[in-house]
Amino acid sequence: MKDEQPNQEFDSSDPLKSDNTESILDSFRFVNGRRYHNLDDVTYLLPNDNKEAKRLYLQHNLFKFAWQNNYSSPIHEFLKSGKAKVLDIGCGSGHWILDMAREYPQATFVGIDMSPLFPDAKNTPSNVLFLQHNLNNGIPFPNETFDFVFQRFLCNNVVLDKWKIYVKEMIRVTKSGGWLEFFEFELNYDRASAFHLQVLELVHSAFEAKGIISKPESVIPPFLETCQELSEVHFKEVSIPIGHWAGQLGTMMLTYTLMNAETIRLLITSAWGVDDKTFDWIFENSNREFDENKLHTKSFRWFSKKI
Ligand SMILES: C[S@@+](CC[C@H](N)C(=O)[O-])C[C@H]1O[C@@H](n2cnc3c(N)ncnc32)[C@H](O)[C@@H]1O
Repeated sequence: MKDEQPNQEFDSSDPLKSDNTESILDSFRFVNGRRYHNLDDVTYLLPNDNKEAKRLYLQHNLFKFAWQNNYSSPIHEFLKSGKAKVLDIGCGSGHWILDMAREYPQATFVGIDMSPLFPDAKNTPSNVLFLQHNLNNGIPFPNETFDFVFQRFLCNNVVLDKWKIYVKEMIRVTKSGGWLEFFEFELNYDRASAFHLQVLELVHSAFEAKGIISKPESVIPPFLETCQELSEVHFKEVSIPIGHWAGQLGTMMLTYTLMNAETIRLLITSAWGVDDKTFDWIFENSNREFDENKLHTKSFRWFSKKI
């Protein structure tokens, strides 16, 4: 992806909201040096520039390392068999798909994202297809197309009502007997100080003010259990240490956490009405605790078979 240069200034009381009618025709918005999507009907608050692509690359490697695999559904043999079709919605830069496509060269993989962070067609393996598409318009495939439908870090980043519609669409395009999997993590540190926990609650509130529930554990299981088309919902959890005290994994998680804070800087400074200096002070003080209190965070997978 080429480096993009800011092409316009935004003057809005809410820098995350596109209220500039001229800009609607443009593909991107640029705010404080970061590039964002410019879709009118999507409330997705994270950037989609090269810096974000680097964060997603680290994210993929970090979570694969922590879990020692890319998924938990019992479909390894089927993926090896050569008949499987796999879909990843909100695939971002496509690292999960590309990794899976290498591991299972006989299977076919499709990644969908509204932002073109994934590689273009001439740089993708022949068993991979990436589509730039807004999920608010549904998943552009017929009923019962895929054997395995996956999403990662989507629930905690999109408006809850929209996410529920995406899940219904995921179920629709999954074959009977196929698997669906949801992979999320939550900012919820054990052993954090009262100050740190308060900061986290304020971060959750900033997302909630936009309709996004950044606590997937409270949202995903109750919703999946209401879906009549799904059988028993399986659950796995992996706790990931943060900080230099925990070796390579802890250091990766620390780097990732600092990148995450940078990614939500605009959301938080505008939600809390604070400047960058105050933001830095708050996060530096909370982040010190990772090593001092040997903190961990949690990541989760829920997976279920379509009846
Ligand atoms: C936090 S990123 C996760 C990316 C990827 N799943 C991963 O684990 O690396 C969430 C992705 O969802 C995409 N997304 C959010 N809303 C979307 C929508 N309405 N249609 C398509 N993609 C969407 C974003 O563009 C972003 O790439």
